[in-house]
Amino acid sequence: MQHEPLHLDPGNLYTDKVGANGLSPECLNVLRPSLTAAHGAIHARVQSGELPFLRLHEDRATLDRVLEAASAARARFDDLVVLGIGGSSLGGRALIAALGGAGLRVHFPDNLDPDRFGALIDGLDLDRTQWNAISKSGGTLETIAQLLVVREQAAARLGGYGSLASRLVVTTDPQKGFLRRLARRDGLESFEVPPCVGGRFSVFTPVGLYPAAAAGVDLEGVFRGMAWAAERLASPDPAENPALAAAGLLYSLDVDKGRPVIATVPYADSLRATAEWFAQLWAESLGKAGRGPVPITAVGATDQHSQLQLWMEGPPNMVVAFIEVDRCDRAMPIPAADLGDDPDVAWMVGHDMGHILRMEKRGTAEALTRAGRPNLTWRMPAVTPESIGAWMLITQAMTAYAGGLYGVDPFDQPGVEAGKIIARRLLSQR
Ligand code: PA5
Repeated sequence: MQHEPLHLDPGNLYTDKVGANGLSPECLNVLRPSLTAAHGAIHARVQSGELPFLRLHEDRATLDRVLEAASAARARFDDLVVLGIGGSSLGGRALIAALGGAGLRVHFPDNLDPDRFGALIDGLDLDRTQWNAISKSGGTLETIAQLLVVREQAAARLGGYGSLASRLVVTTDPQKGFLRRLARRDGLESFEVPPCVGGRFSVFTPVGLYPAAAAGVDLEGVFRGMAWAAERLASPDPAENPALAAAGLLYSLDVDKGRPVIATVPYADSLRATAEWFAQLWAESLGKAGRGPVPITAVGATDQHSQLQLWMEGPPNMVVAFIEVDRCDRAMPIPAADLGDDPDVAWMVGHDMGHILRMEKRGTAEALTRAGRPNLTWRMPAVTPESIGAWMLITQAMTAYAGGLYGVDPFDQPGVEAGKIIARRLLSQR
């Protein structure tokens, strides 16, 4: 890789920039024993195979299988509909929104909203549509309910329940659950979610890889970015490991400075879904035992006209994490037309739209800094597969390290399970 795909700039978190609201320059040194322990605990489990999520870029065989299946699907179908929710949907959606591709149109209905789901199905040519039911547990209410509706529609419109079998790919646990049973019974094509990889850490398993490959995302590039990130993650020194540095800084801002809220703010529309993926990762992993940081999502410059007032002058409980992209794909200079002499527009004429967006980000960061509001920047040279692979792996590691700092298990979600059990009971009472 010629240039670094990702760079963390934490400068505006420190006292020299934001005064007493900021962190001391010694903060990471003071925290070093805890950081070393958190890093050691996670990587020992990664090495032993207990936590494979940071080594998925080494699984070439799975990538090859996914690419082969996606290539066959692109020859036969026009659309792919992902039936999945939460960690079984957000990662693939983020990869595709960020990186696009010239493959299948991929839809993520996600929610059990009959109006939207019905409209989606009505508009599809079912003969040329593939379905990917994704559920680690194999039995999630939203996913299975959608699948049952689709089976019925396919039976009615294509002829018999069997008509779905050659159009349905299942991604689930290798052994357990309803979806695995169905895959065995109907001889469905299937992928495995490795049992030791949790839903929100599964973007780089077939959960996220298959939809992305079907869409034509350059997964080789994503894997290069992951490999680049994995080299940084090997180090227990926060000066070399940006995930460890960011975990320590965000933890200190929460615990020592009363700033639990983190707003992830990319200045690129294509990264909105990436920020939403991160919000789930951070919230579901760390919101436990009566505490935990609070993620919010925004996009610049759009939310400068929506949330920025809150960030600047609202409660002093926030950190803004920008994602700045150095280069957009498309040049779009602002033309003068016949208005270039008007002083109200002359100052913007001739600048490229992407450059304006970057300057807006820098203006916002500087204004926040002057107002004593801590902020950091993840910088990418462009929205490339390498940058996205690197950022998504680094933020997964950051979340895992933060679990160690907060003293919670980042890999479970007991609060979510409780709601699922109650909903099932309510639905069983007819
Ligand atoms: O991260 C998680 O574990 C959750 O968000 C799950 O992904 C979500 O609840 C869906 O679960 P499943 O993949 O079992 O259908």
